[in-house]
Amino acid sequence: MSVERIQTLRQLLHRYNHEYHVLDQPSISDAQFDALMQELIVLERQHPEVFDPTSPTQRVGGQVLDGFEKVTHQVMMLSLGNAYSLDDLIAFDARVRSMIAQPVYVVEAKIDGLAMSLHYEQGNLILAATRGDGVIGENVTENIKTIFDVPLKLTRNYSMEVRGEVYMSKQAFASLNQQQASFNQKLFMNPRNAAAGSIRQLDPQLVAKRKLSMYSYNWMNAQDFGISTHYDALMALKELGFKVSDYTRRCASINEVYDEIMKLDEQRETLPFEIDGVVVKVDAFSDQEQLGYTAKTPRWAIAYKFSAQEVETTLEDIFLTVGRTGKITPNAKLTPVIVAQTNVGYAQLHNFDYIATKDIRVNDKVIIRKAGDIIPEVVRVNLEHRHDQQPYVFNHRCPVCHEPTFSDVDEVDEYCVNPNCEARLVESIIHYASRDALNIEGLGDKKVAQLVEAKLLNNVKDIYALKHKKEAIIVLDKFAQKSVDALIEAIEVSKQLPLSKLLYGLGIRHVGAKAAQTLAQHFLNMDAFMRASYDELISIKEIGDVMARSCLETMSHVSFVELIEALKVEGVNMSEPVKEVKSSFFSEKTVVLTGTLESLSRTQASEWLSEHGAKVSGSVSKATDIVIAGSEAGSKLTKAQSLGVRIMFEEEFKEVMNREI
Ligand code: IVH
Repeated sequence: MSVERIQTLRQLLHRYNHEYHVLDQPSISDAQFDALMQELIVLERQHPEVFDPTSPTQRVGGQVLDGFEKVTHQVMMLSLGNAYSLDDLIAFDARVRSMIAQPVYVVEAKIDGLAMSLHYEQGNLILAATRGDGVIGENVTENIKTIFDVPLKLTRNYSMEVRGEVYMSKQAFASLNQQQASFNQKLFMNPRNAAAGSIRQLDPQLVAKRKLSMYSYNWMNAQDFGISTHYDALMALKELGFKVSDYTRRCASINEVYDEIMKLDEQRETLPFEIDGVVVKVDAFSDQEQLGYTAKTPRWAIAYKFSAQEVETTLEDIFLTVGRTGKITPNAKLTPVIVAQTNVGYAQLHNFDYIATKDIRVNDKVIIRKAGDIIPEVVRVNLEHRHDQQPYVFNHRCPVCHEPTFSDVDEVDEYCVNPNCEARLVESIIHYASRDALNIEGLGDKKVAQLVEAKLLNNVKDIYALKHKKEAIIVLDKFAQKSVDALIEAIEVSKQLPLSKLLYGLGIRHVGAKAAQTLAQHFLNMDAFMRASYDELISIKEIGDVMARSCLETMSHVSFVELIEALKVEGVNMSEPVKEVKSSFFSEKTVVLTGTLESLSRTQASEWLSEHGAKVSGSVSKATDIVIAGSEAGSKLTKAQSLGVRIMFEEEFKEVMNREI
């Protein structure tokens, strides 16, 4: 009975979702919907035997992933040739007509997002892959499931591939950036960047919050279902549950196509999503086949690109913001001006090189353009109005904490590297507590953000004062007595970890987990590290110029020195045990790790191997003795096979490890 009810609820909720999100015509109230969803959640929990990855309950976002698996596209994902004028369109039409007597065209809005390929088997969504380089993309199924426009189950049990564009509506983009700003985080440049960045998140629950959408625009195997034109395929996709753009027109001539394009250009600003042009496609599949492809683009389609509106205004000031990674971004305050129907008061300047190359100065008259039509950028300076404006000079200090900033020789960006800088606080604490650093369980992203917001963490060293603030923590949302006790315990335990973990946790730019180990093994204690000279640092194997400079730069900050002293007072271990390298099966062997190991992390495996005399290397060559391969091992495994290098799978590796203990 309950199992039947589960099936009914799933069907109903799929339908209501579709009515609400795709058709914009809900037939029940939100409260009724929530009640049915709750009922389904409860029943599914009681009946795990009927788990279905395509159930409507699966849209909330599943587990955090380690990375995205690579996917090879069965049919390459191509891009389109561009047209910028009526002449370009006429030329396209002439090429088409040289092969097809009377072509029919379909005109569609070209939404500015990222291309996605969806695969269904027996009507169930089984795979969503990004375009990647057109040949190999990434499996982002868990993230795509959170998009309500994507049917998890089709109205027919078809096996098919559909391609479309994942995008963020103007409204969702505006509220995301508002939120970013209120957390003092970096703003997204435009809805396309925001959508692409969201799809690359490893936490599907975060993706669910980003409110992405998707329009489907190509049914790859429509002909298998007796459909012979692209337009009919789009209409059939609607029936199957996909969202298809209403801005889709069939046209009998290129002039008609152009009229439609002009109409769409006029409506452009009022559309709820960004479009950067129009796509024109030959309608009949048989005509498409006849026209064929060039190396990168189909001959049966072209993208007509709209031009971006440019407007002149005064640049009143240049001000700086700091991102979570400490990156400092310059921005322009403008005399407000209307661009593409919205009022614009600020523009991006990207980085300091951009300002220098374009010689942008305060009080200049500048030409601005909306990149991706939301956040404008300064395109150039109108030098006719240049009089006594002075070149912009960056004082190399963080605008938030006023400590000196740092930039690498070959990098254009400037960073604030003060670990106590408020702008970087959340990020640096999360890193400090992360698994390969001090490994403080219970101090993940959300908890850190909460504690920082509650002003219980104002600095990395405050982690050690939490034990005196239990009452203040317990009243916070999601903290209970038990979890607070566990957290305090985890913090105490972490104090014993070796110097290498601490060095990594301090987040010195360019010093990864492995480099931190190398440094710790060389210096053996923090004081020796803090006294290190450039020459001593680069004399260490595997430590180069960039890393040495970064260490010295960080150590030169008074706040860094103070932090180390404070950590000492708290009893954090500042030394590294002298490593006695055990002789083992792996002694003197060059070993490469690839793929995901089930029973231990890559860092743990690498540490174990080093302790047992192996030289752990990142790439496979003739000099490699053994490749240890986990699941989803890729090119390194293939290369090892072709070079005849010995391959050890996880089972065998574990056996050898056990023998050595
Ligand atoms: S068709 C082989 N149709 O534009 C044809 N693309 O510049 C492949 N795009 O990679 C694309 N809206 O990401 C097509 N209605 C539409 C589109 C569209 C947006 C994007 C797509 C593609 C890029 C090509």
